Amino acid sequence: MTEQLQLQPDSRQRAESLLSELSLAEKLGQLVQVNGEGALDDLKEKVVGGLVGSIINEVDPERVGELQRIATTESPHGIPLLIGRDVIHGFKTVLPIPLGLAATWNENLVRQGAQLSAVEASSQGVNWTFSPMLDVSRDPRWGRIAESFGEDPYLTGRMGSAMVRGYQNGSSQQLMSCVKHFVGYGASESGKDYNTTNIPEVELRNVYLPPFLAAIDAGTLSLMPSFSDLNGMPPSGNGWLLRKVLREEWDFQGFIVSDWESITQLSVHGVTDDARAAAQKALEAGVNMDMVSGAYRDHAESLIEDGSIDIALVDELVCEILAAKYQLGLFDRSEHQYNHAPRTQEADRVAKQLAIESTVLLKNDNHLLPLDSATKVALIGPLADEPFEQLGTWTFDGDVERSVSLRQALEARTGDRVVFASGLKFSRDKQTDLFDEARAVAEKADVVIVALGEEAILSGEAHCRADISLPGAQVQLLECLKSVGKPIVAIVMAGRPLVLEPVVREAGALLYAWHPGSMGGPALVELLYGDQVPSGRLPVTMPRSAGQIPIYYAQGNTGKPATPETVISIEEIDARAPQFSVGNTSFHLDVHPSPEFSFGFGLSYTDFNYENLRVEQALHEPGASLIVAVDVTNIGERDGIEIVQLYVKDVVASITRPVRELKSFARVPLAVGEARSIRFELGIDELSFFNGEEQVTEPGVFRIWVGGNSDADLSIDTSVYSAAIC
Ligand code: NOJ
Repeated sequence: MTEQLQLQPDSRQRAESLLSELSLAEKLGQLVQVNGEGALDDLKEKVVGGLVGSIINEVDPERVGELQRIATTESPHGIPLLIGRDVIHGFKTVLPIPLGLAATWNENLVRQGAQLSAVEASSQGVNWTFSPMLDVSRDPRWGRIAESFGEDPYLTGRMGSAMVRGYQNGSSQQLMSCVKHFVGYGASESGKDYNTTNIPEVELRNVYLPPFLAAIDAGTLSLMPSFSDLNGMPPSGNGWLLRKVLREEWDFQGFIVSDWESITQLSVHGVTDDARAAAQKALEAGVNMDMVSGAYRDHAESLIEDGSIDIALVDELVCEILAAKYQLGLFDRSEHQYNHAPRTQEADRVAKQLAIESTVLLKNDNHLLPLDSATKVALIGPLADEPFEQLGTWTFDGDVERSVSLRQALEARTGDRVVFASGLKFSRDKQTDLFDEARAVAEKADVVIVALGEEAILSGEAHCRADISLPGAQVQLLECLKSVGKPIVAIVMAGRPLVLEPVVREAGALLYAWHPGSMGGPALVELLYGDQVPSGRLPVTMPRSAGQIPIYYAQGNTGKPATPETVISIEEIDARAPQFSVGNTSFHLDVHPSPEFSFGFGLSYTDFNYENLRVEQALHEPGASLIVAVDVTNIGERDGIEIVQLYVKDVVASITRPVRELKSFARVPLAVGEARSIRFELGIDELSFFNGEEQVTEPGVFRIWVGGNSDADLSIDTSVYSAAIC
């Protein structure tokens, strides 16, 4: 394994020395990213003149090769181009959507997935991906939750760092990563894309910023501010965010690229008059590169000429881009021959393993799964045979020919023991004319597997939904199949958590597969037949109804938390009831206060027991660690993998703290009957929080839970002594 990339002083020195030779036009060219979809001759002309630092959306190997050849041999100083592309979850081979990747809780595998993406994309000349997205996402209406690692800052930070390491793997087949969208974009009001976000600084620092800091520690060389309006100032013009937090507090050494036209959008937001003023604001805030808006191209020079922008500021912005290009090894590459990425067994293996580990078993009554290989199966549903839809959002380069549907994989495995009927033509289909055929197929089978969910187009950027139930007539299809009387195994493929109540009601078993990518079919078949045991765990809470949103496990306690004794259902309230008849605690009258499924939840084909939670070392002196251990045993009848999760609460603090927060986890394979002692080590930082700008760890009692999901009830208290906090 090669060393991961980190910006080295040498790259910076080489950048400074090159900078001193550049003309103003060349310097400004480095700040400009253009869209590669235009005419090749136009592009070539700009590249020859050194007027372009980066091209986005050009992935044709020949064109990329030609443009790089021109940049490196014909432009004044031979500066190579950054070739950017949204390689979000795979390239030709498509991996599960990022929300699915997070459900694996397997950093090593996620890193391998990113490395695979890098190998495929770099073979076509791409050297920069706008991934990973680190927006903590607590609103499933927001279409971009599909691109996220879910609701939790800690899990997001771990998964995001793994992806950064996989992309920037230090080999010749690497991609520069770009973490995005800095910051708070996931909190878009009403789950509507590009919407306003209002996030108090304490919440920003405790929830939304930490994943970015983790990814910067992992070495990401670039970062993208978000489109949204953060507390009155969009990030592309937000000096507090980009200079104070990112550069001064965090010492970020990479560079900042705006989001698509987000610089000129500063005027649409209404914080600048026009593109010139927007360019000035973004330059002052420290945005190094303008993604396609043209504002830097058109106005940077005149801003320098009339003294509005100091050349020293521009020099710094250019230098940071050049340093990243050096660090990425772009200057050291002499030939630019690129080819279409071939399909490989290794790519299929990684994609399949990720799809297996991302799938979450949410229900399995009476051990309906795994199926016996002799079982006669009816396969029904609008997502059962959709090689394209199962790829999910952001798959510009995904090769549908490499995608294997559930139907294809089931037929390959079981031959004529599976009979197929789609039931609905697509997920939003409201027609019921295919139901009779589906019923007939179900009647002949021992078990009905029904593949439901959302088409790819229903999630991702700008694809938000107010109603997150199964679209079209899918619930009716399910009810129709239920009336046949055969056991039902539901498989849901979707880009977000959906409201699952009808599925939970009608199906005996439920596998949540997200959009599982190219190898979704084979992965699901291996899970259905027990070749593989489910180990995926939810990276996001599944609400019972959209009205509960935002619902996430790490919420505040409130002064009036709901308890079983105080919760009253709307059905229990008498007509003309007096005001005091309902419990005065925090709940909705018309939905149970708990979620449908909690963060961290997921079943296995075996069971695990937790006991003997103990504090092996308390935090009583500076530099010491808190060491907690627990014994976990596989008490079922199959080998399995448990995701052991550790949650913490600061019981009394100077400001209110979440009811619990994930602080560590371990992936633990356990054979039947095997017991293992799992140790967790936490430092003072893991117990800290921001109570403003300041990060503090306060002495006192901390409660620790360890278990298989965020509802774990095995807990222990420990004290952090003042002496431990220096
Ligand atoms: C807009 C999206 O917000 C961002 O995530 C993406 O990387 C850019 N467009 C480039 O396509």
